[in-house]
Amino acid sequence: MAQELKRGDTVLAVGATGSIGRLVVDELLVRGYTVRALVRDAARARATLPEAVDLVKGDLAAGAGLADAVAGVDGIVLTHGGDGRTVDYEGVRNLLEALGGSRPRIVLMTSMTTSRGSDAFGGVLHWKRRAERLVRAHGAEWTIVRPGWFDNEAPGDTGVVLEQGDATAFSEHRGVARTQIAATLVAALEQEAATRVTLELFAAPGDMPADWAAAFGRLDKDDIDANAGAHDAGIVLADEPAEVLADITRLRA
Ligand SMILES: NC(=O)c1ccc[n+]([C@@H]2O[C@H](COP(=O)([O-])OP(=O)(O)OC[C@H]3O[C@@H](n4cnc5c(N)ncnc54)[C@H](OP(=O)(O)O)[C@@H]3O)[C@@H](O)[C@H]2O)c1
Repeated sequence: MAQELKRGDTVLAVGATGSIGRLVVDELLVRGYTVRALVRDAARARATLPEAVDLVKGDLAAGAGLADAVAGVDGIVLTHGGDGRTVDYEGVRNLLEALGGSRPRIVLMTSMTTSRGSDAFGGVLHWKRRAERLVRAHGAEWTIVRPGWFDNEAPGDTGVVLEQGDATAFSEHRGVARTQIAATLVAALEQEAATRVTLELFAAPGDMPADWAAAFGRLDKDDIDANAGAHDAGIVLADEPAEVLADITRLRA
């Protein structure tokens, strides 16, 4: 499977009707991809998404429709949001299992502070971190993007900075525009340099990268043995629940 997607390739958008996913769909269409969306309510999605988008009805948490959604895709961009365990974690596990032997390019959006976790927001970050680990274990080439606060960028922050180490606290309120997130997620699909990389994304003064290969290429690759982003200093793999470790082992097999 090619690790650098190009116009004409088929990309599945998961979370396509969401505030980020909707922008990802627009970005994919502008760049000439064939776009498929996993949607729970086709009528509602049809009213939201452009005609060009092929809708597949399904549900991450229930595991419904996922085999049809992933059939033949070259890439998947996941920007879903849910309750933590069933959608953010089990939904990702269900989708990876539905891939069977296929290995499309995967770009997963989680959140800043995911590596360290937090009991805020119902513990959703713990489940997002565990989902990141499933994606790294699975064997498809991945990029994981952890954005800051949506649309909380300072005036004039028209560029982005790609960071690693996940050291920024929520209380710093560092933001990034939704459009900047969508552009970065789609750019990651197209760059070999973005494979096996986990990064935090914040707005910054300046312009969006003109050379995404260079922007991603400056980052370090994930720590495969630790199943973590490069320089992550948060919760270690051994401290994840036994069921998560079992899922990782099964997906690796
Ligand atoms: N707000 C912030 O500042 C911030 C910062 C960093 C990260 N985040 C994270 O960003 C994530 C997504 O944000 P967003 O604003 O795009 O979310 P959103 O607008 O709430 O959209 C969520 C998307 O997930 C889909 N979804 C939910 N449950 C599903 C299921 N069981 N099966 C299939 N699809 C399902 C929804 O589909 P339906 O249309 O069917 O509901 C929708 O498309 C959240 O998890 C949040 O934690 C937020």
